Amino acid sequence: MTLTDNTPVRAPRPRRHPAARLACFPHAGASADAFTALAAALPEDVEVLTFQYPGRRERRSEPCAADIADLAGEAARLLAPYTDRPLSLLGHSMGALVAFETTRLLEQRGAVARLFVSAARPPSEDWGERDLDALDDADVVAELRRLGGVPEALLREEDVVAEILRLLRADHRALRRYRCPPDALVAAPVTVLLADADPKNTLEQTGGWARHTTHGFDTELLVGGHFALTGRDPDVARLLADRLLERGSAPMATPADAVREIYLAGIGGGTPALTTDLTALEEQARAVMTPAAVGYVLGDAGTGETGRLNRRAYARRHLVPRMLRGAAQRDLSVSLFGRTLSSPVLLAPIAAQTVAHPEGELATARAAAEAGVPLVLSTGSSHSLEDVAAVAGPRWFQLYWPSDRAVAASLVRRAEQSGYTAIVLTVDAPTFGYRPTDLDSGYLPFLHGHGIANFTSDPVFLAGLPDGGSVLQHWARVFANPALDWDDLPWLRTVTSLPILLKGVLHPADARRALDLEAVDGVIVSNHGGRQLDGTVAALDVLPAVRAAVGNDVPVLVDSGVRTGSDVLKALALGADAVLYGRPYLYGLALDGQAGVAHVLRCLLADLDLAMALAGCRSTADVTPDLLMPEAHPAPYDFG
Ligand code: FNR
Ligand code: LAC
Repeated sequence: MTLTDNTPVRAPRPRRHPAARLACFPHAGASADAFTALAAALPEDVEVLTFQYPGRRERRSEPCAADIADLAGEAARLLAPYTDRPLSLLGHSMGALVAFETTRLLEQRGAVARLFVSAARPPSEDWGERDLDALDDADVVAELRRLGGVPEALLREEDVVAEILRLLRADHRALRRYRCPPDALVAAPVTVLLADADPKNTLEQTGGWARHTTHGFDTELLVGGHFALTGRDPDVARLLADRLLERGSAPMATPADAVREIYLAGIGGGTPALTTDLTALEEQARAVMTPAAVGYVLGDAGTGETGRLNRRAYARRHLVPRMLRGAAQRDLSVSLFGRTLSSPVLLAPIAAQTVAHPEGELATARAAAEAGVPLVLSTGSSHSLEDVAAVAGPRWFQLYWPSDRAVAASLVRRAEQSGYTAIVLTVDAPTFGYRPTDLDSGYLPFLHGHGIANFTSDPVFLAGLPDGGSVLQHWARVFANPALDWDDLPWLRTVTSLPILLKGVLHPADARRALDLEAVDGVIVSNHGGRQLDGTVAALDVLPAVRAAVGNDVPVLVDSGVRTGSDVLKALALGADAVLYGRPYLYGLALDGQAGVAHVLRCLLADLDLAMALAGCRSTADVTPDLLMPEAHPAPYDFG
């Protein structure tokens, strides 16, 4: 690789055959020289590349970039030729955003070895940066002094300060304008570099980077302030070199690490606050919920036959694991509708979560975001879809199609505007099922004010409320649309450009019909956890037939009875792309709010990660039908 002098990407110390490369992106107001010390301190076999943003030094005649995306576009183009060796990216402060966006672009063509982000909050979160254009020079200089990035001697030179302020203000405008979707992901593992005395960032504030990678996240603590990275600390260079050259580096955090952490804590006598047995949570949760909430959440329709059958369908199938397939690291990610999910698990839509915990869906959304698990938010949520979006990571919206189309359109529009990336239309609940547990206690949460927030916050719903009329009566009229039929489906397509999934499909002919209408993009095989029509078949039992009916290209998800990592493997082996995880996370919510949901997700993902290791699956693509005993998947029943 030869380097010409006039390219914005430079190697301060070119190497003929580097073992690894590190492309560095400076902070706001800085030039590529910020990395001179670091480049000099790294070992011979690491080649540092620096990216000079326009508007400074030799690029002074060019205007500063107005957008982070412009910088990333240029960097990705210029760095593409350097991917013949393992290429990692490192961004400091604002540079972390440029590095993140550049990684996303580079990954469209190939792999990035690792993304290092220093002194930077997650890209989808508010950095709380002040508008420097509104501050006078003296205040900005005072802030520079506080952070300590510029030597005091330089801060006394008027023209130097003027130049720094010009660049800082321009870069800050780009930084403040930057918006990143909450579900933007890179495949590269992310290492956060955080200094212990950084006045701008804490461990808690940088933790959200975990949501933006499918391949593991960890944090390295540096000693110093906001500029610990670019100082002359040899420990920083050593740490980076170890990571770049994979020498003695700590293994990346993987879901299975949760298990190791529990055993390590056990040395000091610690044990998990909640059970790790995902099938035992139900009993723990039963003890802390009100009888009415127990009835609503745990209750099944009718005799409970379908509820029990859902579990039996998993218990009846058995894995035949494969050995010696080198599954030391597992890639749990799956791809759905052009997006990468960090695992084949989403949280099922569950209404009225405040019956289990006062924070309800807000706590669930926070825990899901932390775990990188997408949340499917119910129409019947107790917090508005906008309030949930504000704290959520990747998210889909489940639609109960109201009897008033204008309200339906309004809900879908709001979801789309709030960053929900798919619509799940539930079709197995034209009316509530016959649920003795709720009937015996005369309890329906909605009539007690739970689960109606999306209506009470909806302008179209409110506009239809008769003067002085009761909100609950109006809700009861509008909430459901028992008359919905196939002819209605194409209309939904006209009000949204998001992918639409049909949830609650059991008959393969229904799945086929939905696709033939070209009205939906995927199906969710489900019997609503046995809450609707009692006596129906287990969802898992019809999964292969539905998969066969729609072919291999259409996303098919399944829920109802998924409890453990092995269950997820079984569902995938029978043709599902992903599963919806239902009641267990609500038990976690009831037991300990956000921390309880986080615990449940940690356990499930650890269990799944270990199950893949033990079954010899390096990635979800390895989870194929031959992992199951053959009699477990007879030829799909011919539904005629
Ligand atoms: C649900 N489910 C559900 N589904 C849906 O589409 N919209 C909703 O609002 C709700 N609400 C709801 C409330 C409660 C308390 C439960 C338990 C379930 C069904 C849910 O999405 C999923 O299909 C089932 O929970 C799957 O069964 P398991 O695995 O949870 O038993
Ligand atoms: C339930 C509805 C709201 O299962 O889906 O309770």
